[in-house]
Amino acid sequence: MAFITQDLDCISDHILPLGSRNIRMYLVRGESFALLGGGVPWMVQRLETQLDEHGIDRSRIRCLVISHVHHDHCGAVPYLLRRYPHLEVIASDYGAHLLSKSGPVELIGSLNRKTLEAMNLPGEYKGMSLDFEPIPVSLRAGDGDSLDLGGGITLRFYSTPGHSRCSLSTYIPELRALFPADALPFPEPGSDKLTVTASHDYDDYVRSLEKLLLLPIELIGYEHGGMITGEDAAMMIPKSLAATLQQRRRIRDRYDELKDLDRLVDELAGKYQSLELYSMVSSDVMRATMHRMVRSALGMV
Ligand SMILES: [Fe+2]
Ligand SMILES: [Fe+2]
Repeated sequence: MAFITQDLDCISDHILPLGSRNIRMYLVRGESFALLGGGVPWMVQRLETQLDEHGIDRSRIRCLVISHVHHDHCGAVPYLLRRYPHLEVIASDYGAHLLSKSGPVELIGSLNRKTLEAMNLPGEYKGMSLDFEPIPVSLRAGDGDSLDLGGGITLRFYSTPGHSRCSLSTYIPELRALFPADALPFPEPGSDKLTVTASHDYDDYVRSLEKLLLLPIELIGYEHGGMITGEDAAMMIPKSLAATLQQRRRIRDRYDELKDLDRLVDELAGKYQSLELYSMVSSDVMRATMHRMVRSALGMV
């Protein structure tokens, strides 16, 4: 059975999906509100329009959670902080460290600029710059830390490294809703296949899935693609773990056959790049990502 990912409807009074299917953010509404995900600068106009359409009072949005410091998950945050300076940013400890460092900040800034130029979009929106800059983090969250939004809604955080060292997942116990960003494999559209995203450390990725396995889950909101609910959501973590372990076995078996790391990396990079999700990723970046993932799966990192 294929996973059913749902589109931009408001799934409950408490969760409003924002952005597009490719790049998602979520507004969580308790007494105060939280934004999950940091978006990209080219979705800012759409995001503001969506918030207007739903009559969202920006002063009630108290915080924004950055799931990890990849450009497609934090790119709109500097704009949002300029426009709404009362917003408090939440990230993992290592995420906060990266967001203050010139190297990652310049890399994300240049990726954002290039994409805006390629899309023929201006570098500002309604007089506010879309440039990336260091992001001050108000709360460094780790395992079990939580934030009460009031109105019976709590954000509980889990450190879920593996996709990146800084990955942070958000769980809302009252809704049994998990927002893992890229820390879980992605359901491939229209199929029951999962795309493993263990791009930083395979062992950490497995441990993070084992940690999430303990949570009761009725909804998963990805930052790429849609949401899944019901039985699909309830079974997703065990399926994700099985798919991750199976892929590691396949990588190890294939390496035993080939005895050639470069060829194995090329094979896997080609496979990932044929997926819609990664069609925008340059072959150099994809190859570097797969190189790290394969070496990690083989225990070489
Ligand atoms: Fe991503
Ligand atoms: Fe990512």
